[in-house]
Amino acid sequence: MNSPSALARLRDITHSHPRRYALRDRLSSLNAVRDHEEIYRAQATIDLAWETRFGLNLALYRTFAVPRIAELLAATGEMTTNPHKRAFDTGLWMYELIEHGMDHERGREVVRGLNRMHRRFTIADEDYRYVLATFVVVPTRFIDDVGWRTSTLVEREAVAAFYARLGQLMAIPKVPVGYQGFADLFDAYEAEHIAYSEAGAAQMRATSTVIAQALPDRLRWLAEPATSALLEPRLAAALGLRPPPPGLRPLLRLALRARAVRERRRAPAEVGWFEPGRRGREVYPHGYEIADLGPNWLRQEPDASSR
Ligand code: HEM
Repeated sequence: MNSPSALARLRDITHSHPRRYALRDRLSSLNAVRDHEEIYRAQATIDLAWETRFGLNLALYRTFAVPRIAELLAATGEMTTNPHKRAFDTGLWMYELIEHGMDHERGREVVRGLNRMHRRFTIADEDYRYVLATFVVVPTRFIDDVGWRTSTLVEREAVAAFYARLGQLMAIPKVPVGYQGFADLFDAYEAEHIAYSEAGAAQMRATSTVIAQALPDRLRWLAEPATSALLEPRLAAALGLRPPPPGLRPLLRLALRARAVRERRRAPAEVGWFEPGRRGREVYPHGYEIADLGPNWLRQEPDASSR
């Protein structure tokens, strides 16, 4: 069990805003499985919002380093022909689920959409389990590594319960139980499947254009080297990313640590950042409905029953 070190915990409690840990402490008093939606919503949209969002993006990139997954994404071409909408929509589907939970009408509409989208393809159950595990493990490890605080046991078990439930609703067999179950599956699967493919490199190139456009003009050249510096060298190579220039990796870590110190001193956010139906700069300037999300073919296809 790779729980945060004593030093990391010590780092957590010194030099921080007096109310900074109030939400963490309230969440820690809840039941990780029964209250998993409330805990994950609070962690992902309020208390560790930036880290979770960044971590979920890193999780998406990792799937490009699995040739079988990358080749299907390349075959549909959505990621390369429509990188902004694909990246934006993927985030919106997941945050609608996180914000509303799976029993809410919008949550159910998301699950129906995910099932309709995926049933079109022949996808191995172990690939589904891996992608679920990326949502659980990658943001959690990013938080524990460079977040303004580390995750708690209750939070790790809550995020595992959340994606296990999604796995159930997508009829994925043998979904892992508990955080450690997901982490073991993730590590074993990556040891076996992470490899370079032209399809994967093409998905990463397309996604790098989305990352670049999120940066100020004068920093856009940093998109690819910074992404490479944030990933393990083996993974960056499997995604066709050149090694980062010397010094960039430690510099980025320093910048992330400085951000964490600043965050600890900041007054805690009271409300979540995610606004359902929100407007986007590049995509949906007038807001969106869940029915607007996904590839165009999804809107043309009749809404048959789930997978
Ligand atoms: C349970 C795990 C998974 C979740 C939660 C998930 C989530 C998503 C989401 C949110 C979208 C919508 C993207 C959009 O709106 O354009 C999507 C689309 C898609 N996913 Fe998944 N996915 C999972 C597993 C997989 C796996 C294992 C594969 C491939 C082997 C895959 C292949 C696709 C494809 C082909 C699309 C359609 C859009 C495109 O062509 O790029 N998904 N998925």
